[in-house]
Amino acid sequence: MRVKVPAATKQIDYADLYARWERGNWRATELDFTQDKIDWEERMTPQQRRGALWLYTLFFHGEDAVTDGLSPYIDAAPLEEQKYFLATQQVDEARHAVFFSRFMNEVVGVGDGTTGGTLAATAAQLSWGHKMVFGRLQRMADELREDHSPRKLAAAVTLYHIIVEGSLAQPGQHMIEQSLERLDLLPAFRAGMANVALDEQRHIAFGVRLLADLCEADSGCADAVVDTIREVLPWTTAVALPPDPSYTEVFGFSLLDLYEEAARSQEARLRAIGLPVDELPRFPLPMDLSPRLRAERGLKLLQARMIGPKDGPIIHDPEAIAILFDTMRRQADPSAVAPGTTIQWEFSDAEPWFMRADNGSTAVTQGRVPDPDVTLTSSFEDFADVAAGRSNARVLMLKRRMKAKGSPRLLLKLPKLFG
Ligand SMILES: [Fe+2]
Ligand SMILES: [Fe+2]
Repeated sequence: MRVKVPAATKQIDYADLYARWERGNWRATELDFTQDKIDWEERMTPQQRRGALWLYTLFFHGEDAVTDGLSPYIDAAPLEEQKYFLATQQVDEARHAVFFSRFMNEVVGVGDGTTGGTLAATAAQLSWGHKMVFGRLQRMADELREDHSPRKLAAAVTLYHIIVEGSLAQPGQHMIEQSLERLDLLPAFRAGMANVALDEQRHIAFGVRLLADLCEADSGCADAVVDTIREVLPWTTAVALPPDPSYTEVFGFSLLDLYEEAARSQEARLRAIGLPVDELPRFPLPMDLSPRLRAERGLKLLQARMIGPKDGPIIHDPEAIAILFDTMRRQADPSAVAPGTTIQWEFSDAEPWFMRADNGSTAVTQGRVPDPDVTLTSSFEDFADVAAGRSNARVLMLKRRMKAKGSPRLLLKLPKLFG
């Protein structure tokens, strides 16, 4: 993969980021939450309090996790200037966790005054996607502790700085800041969030520069970036999925607005690293579509339960089914099979679909192809669970809930074809 680092990224300087940290120091312990407590108790509606507690809990637990998990990054970074910056970042993340912990204790009135106790008191609010992403972040830190290679570091920085900070935290912080500003609520919390966002901006800039350096030196690092995005995408889409849409709407923004912002900011970061995002083979994000459209597709899949937590049966929404097959087409590796190979899906409870694999022009269509090379038979429910990574095709085949017909040699190639 050819990486071409933009000039603006080359201007990001590790020592300068450190100096900006010294200048930007602020004190989470000195914020005065008096007015915030009045707002919380007297000016916010019960719906707003419910939505805020849910959303801020995602941040509180996120800040705690990134504080605890940053030290192996310091060990693995090759340059002293990178290590020192990461040391400042770890202090920032602790400060962010203290900030949220104080807010929960002093304004919301949950927790026992200790951060551990307050984390435990709010844990029930966490979304499935949050647990999946941060569980992976913790495993990634464990892996990086054992393996300081540039490729492992690239995978870890992608997850931490680009996905968690750049695509999840920062867009959420901006939405929170803007909505509280509009509603004129929680002044000290807003001031703290503005400082958190400034810190995050430095962290993300550091991650972009480090990934640009790693990918420029070794194209295997660029593959590690893409692989990491592919791995966590089904979970990241579900992180901010509220138990009820009113949780964000009471603050004047929809989930779609939030997802669009996330899609836009992720794309900007990938371009800043110098990745050829428009021509990446099998890239899981459809970069030829606008951020709004990408957000709509993710949300549709999520709402039809084709990705994310399965808290009910899959919804047979024809639009979502088409998006699911289009996503499979984009991620397929047609080089795994002979050009023109056809795969037919027969569902007991939905319309059939087929794929014609061809280098450069793989296509998916609803209907039947005459004489398919492979026929896969199952319920749509089982198929969608496999596509979402919630079920294993091999296990379903052993249970005979999924059947495959075709030459054994070709069947063996299917895992590679579908990535
Ligand atoms: Fe943070
Ligand atoms: Fe951060």
